[in-house]
Amino acid sequence: MLNKTCVITGCNSGIGLVASLELARQGYELFMLMRNSRKSEEAFQQVLSAADGVKVHYIPVDLSSMKATAAAADQVLAKAQKIDLLINNAGLLAREEQRTSEGLELTLAVNYFAPYLLTTQFSPLLKAADKARVVNVSSGMSKRGKVVFEHAFDERPFSGLKAYSNSKLLINYFTFKLSNFCEGSPIIANCVHPGAVNTGVFRQYPSWIVKLIGRFLLTPKQGANHLLLPAVNPAFNNHKGVIEKKISGLYFNKSKGLELSKILKHPERAEEIWEMTSKILDELLVVKA
Ligand SMILES: NC(=O)c1ccc[n+]([C@@H]2O[C@H](COP(=O)([O-])OP(=O)(O)OC[C@H]3O[C@@H](n4cnc5c(N)ncnc54)[C@H](OP(=O)(O)O)[C@@H]3O)[C@@H](O)[C@H]2O)c1
Repeated sequence: MLNKTCVITGCNSGIGLVASLELARQGYELFMLMRNSRKSEEAFQQVLSAADGVKVHYIPVDLSSMKATAAAADQVLAKAQKIDLLINNAGLLAREEQRTSEGLELTLAVNYFAPYLLTTQFSPLLKAADKARVVNVSSGMSKRGKVVFEHAFDERPFSGLKAYSNSKLLINYFTFKLSNFCEGSPIIANCVHPGAVNTGVFRQYPSWIVKLIGRFLLTPKQGANHLLLPAVNPAFNNHKGVIEKKISGLYFNKSKGLELSKILKHPERAEEIWEMTSKILDELLVVKA
């Protein structure tokens, strides 16, 4: 028996669903954090059938709400003894500006604030595991991102692509800080650009655009393989290149590992971003509690 536990978000479709099926086959006990929907229930049943005896839990949560995200984390904390693998995969690219009930911009809430909140809430369980791994799903679009310190990182005027790119850049900074924070502790934190993959992430764009670009995209299985490399690949510690020297704080561009400190324009900002995020979430969770 593998005796490993994984928490994965946004796994009712696309890369997250394929990765969950693979992890279940490998024998991971899974906590699937997904929005409450029929699609999620079906994904849960599909993964359960692939699991062959290991436990699979469906935790319904809308990750755009920090209050709901904190409550979902509490449910996991009450059930799990340790977390060996946390995959912050849920994400969206919203075309129109939308605010959450807590006042955050929607893309930033789901793609950045929720992963931050979950990871920090799970810190005791990650530390309880032997060499826990955190994988944050980023994007090649993070290269175009900008850190805007006003308005809770929310760049104005709104542009969907900018909000998406900014959220993914923030997750890169978060991963960098997390890997330093974990230095000397057994946690390994990396982020990954899975490639341009044919999934629902483009669902808010007209169907003709999706059809047109669809033929150039990777399959969800290929995207999931890229995600799973820093998550579970046993060859990971012996991977050639920089990985041998430092196995945490990397940005995987598909399967190529690059040091985050070298690709972030201002790595020293990671601390400032971390502090500001923590303050925003503290205020929001106290006020909205
Ligand atoms: N596809 C690509 O080309 C590409 C490239 C770079 C990075 N990525 C990243 O890869 C990750 C997975 O995306 P994908 O391509 O597999 O697309 P996808 O099939 O659309 O998956 C996104 C997942 O996130 C979930 N999600 C969105 N908003 C949520 C919310 N408020 N609460 C809970 N879950 C929510 C979705 O659930 P619902 O069905 O309930 O909305 C879905 O399960 C994302 O972080 C994405 O940004 C994708």
